[in-house]
Amino acid sequence: MKVAVLLGVLRIMRIEPVVGGMLCAFVTFAATGPSSVRFTKDVAPVLEKNCQGCHRPGEAAPFPLLTYEQARPWAKAMKEAVLLKKMPPWFADPHYGKFSNDRSLSQKEVDTLAAWADAGAPQGDPKDMPPPLDFVEGWAIPKPDVIIEFPRAFQIPATGTIEYQKWWCRPDSPRTSGCSSPKRARTIARGCIT
Ligand code: HEC
Repeated sequence: MKVAVLLGVLRIMRIEPVVGGMLCAFVTFAATGPSSVRFTKDVAPVLEKNCQGCHRPGEAAPFPLLTYEQARPWAKAMKEAVLLKKMPPWFADPHYGKFSNDRSLSQKEVDTLAAWADAGAPQGDPKDMPPPLDFVEGWAIPKPDVIIEFPRAFQIPATGTIEYQKWWCRPDSPRTSGCSSPKRARTIARGCIT
């Protein structure tokens, strides 16, 4: 079992809620108008930022959302999923402030996906398509600083919940030499069962 670790300071920042955020989003949306929403210029950037981490081949989600052709059949389902806040999955309680890694959508982004579905999912000009994200193969995080191999595999059951796990890596083991001094992990990729 391997785990990729991005070293750095664990940061969970609290940012005060922005007063008037809803009003702002509404005004911007009204100015744009639902019929002018296009995949390439409006929807693709939202998918890149909030969905493709999982919705791409080899990741947790069951279908990719990288291209217009892939996203188009899902337009209505995406609208529903974001309106119901089923997607993107984010379970942090908003009563405890705003987290810096919050991946939930802004009201404007929800409105964009909804308006796109309502308009019949138009593509728009292919020239407006943002450049594809550069994912590091196999990891859901940027290039890891350290890859730590644990001495034994951990069986993940197909269903149910898993008790909180604590893993120790020994600095004197060649397999875990990345742990030679105390460090904090900024991001840990999901375990890769090998
Ligand atoms: C953390 C990973 C993750 C992210 C981020 C994510 N999804 Fe998903 N998505 C999943 C998984 C896993 C499923 C299948 C299981 C399920 O339906 O809960 C899924 C299912 C869906 C479905 C099918 C829903 C249904 O009712 O069957 C839609 C539509 C969808 N995602 C859209 C999106 C959109 C749009 C975004 C970004 C705004 C997004 N997802 C972000 C993991 C993710």
